[in-house]
Amino acid sequence: MNLTKQTTAGFEKQFGYLPTGVWSAPGRANLIGEHTDYNNGFVLPFGIDKRTYAAMSKRDDSLIRIGTSFTEGIVEFELGETEPQDLDWALYPLGVAWVVRAGLDAGFDLYLDSNVPIGAGLSSSAAVECSVALALNDLWDLRHSKQELALIGQRAENEVVGAPTGIMDQTASMLASTDAAVLIDCLSLETETVELGLEAQNLVVAVIDTQVSHRHSDGGYRSRRDACEKGALIMGVSSLRELGQLDLEAAKSKLDDLTYRRVRHIITENDRVLATVAALRAGRIEKIGPIFEASHVSMRDDFEISIPELDLAVETALKTGAIASRMTGGGFGGAAIAVIDKDLLPGLEMAVKAAFIKAGFGAANVFTVSASAGATRES
Ligand code: GLA
Repeated sequence: MNLTKQTTAGFEKQFGYLPTGVWSAPGRANLIGEHTDYNNGFVLPFGIDKRTYAAMSKRDDSLIRIGTSFTEGIVEFELGETEPQDLDWALYPLGVAWVVRAGLDAGFDLYLDSNVPIGAGLSSSAAVECSVALALNDLWDLRHSKQELALIGQRAENEVVGAPTGIMDQTASMLASTDAAVLIDCLSLETETVELGLEAQNLVVAVIDTQVSHRHSDGGYRSRRDACEKGALIMGVSSLRELGQLDLEAAKSKLDDLTYRRVRHIITENDRVLATVAALRAGRIEKIGPIFEASHVSMRDDFEISIPELDLAVETALKTGAIASRMTGGGFGGAAIAVIDKDLLPGLEMAVKAAFIKAGFGAANVFTVSASAGATRES
């Protein structure tokens, strides 16, 4: 059964009637550009072929009921004056409803199903937010553009869930295209499509999920963001986007060592995103290997968001013949990606499993993702 039908059936089983519609939104993998989004910089993610499905119907009272395929029972919430709190996963959909509450004249029934792995750095949360935001937008005819819906998803995450994340994940989930990555300028919020052309070269993007789970509402992500803000303040700019490699020397003399290294990661990472786009547009994908390597090293040593499992995943992928590999997403767990010849995949999977056992790590999970379309109505 496809996931649209499965979600419709799940809704019917939970609530005893058929939903008005089903909307879906993809998770994302970030090719390159990590922690640059909240510094108004560049990112290059793509939507993946793993999605969250939201089946929804309006109600005629102010109650919200949410059921899912991955939890027991339903969560009930009265849409009113009180902000939702302490509701774990339900804060993602409820957060979106809270942000657009002025446009809602009633509650709704919602059933969620998803095949986006949770905690793997593939934005399962943005997939929930974006599928729900699009559903509310259509059902209530709120007339928000996809860009505005991405901002609504981000506000839900920042203000209600309490994770101080940037705009990359929701923009990718809303605006992704098949077979292409999305270059996002996080200052202007303009997006451009960058063709990947992997298929023609027998290449795939493999995800190596370390299965070390993480949450961005925990302290590590916030402290990186704080360090960037501190760096910008001392450097006298409104965001690190305004600095380039020529400013590194001045930054070194003005900033303490830790802040300097955080700032250096952002400045150099912005350049790496643009260099990756240039290589892809020139049809020279082999050139991204050293760029990804420098990105990973910068995240490991300067930004300090990698973990030994991610370093081992990247090292193993490169040894197996991947043309490029780096950790993806916010860090502190989650996944690495590797751009690799399709024929080398079985070898990659075996090598990763063996290396993780040898290092005494938990089991890693290797699978491929392909670039897929952004949020859409399915039925
Ligand atoms: C998480 C956040 C994004 C971004 C990345 C790091 O995925 O949600 O906004 O900051 O981490 O690049």
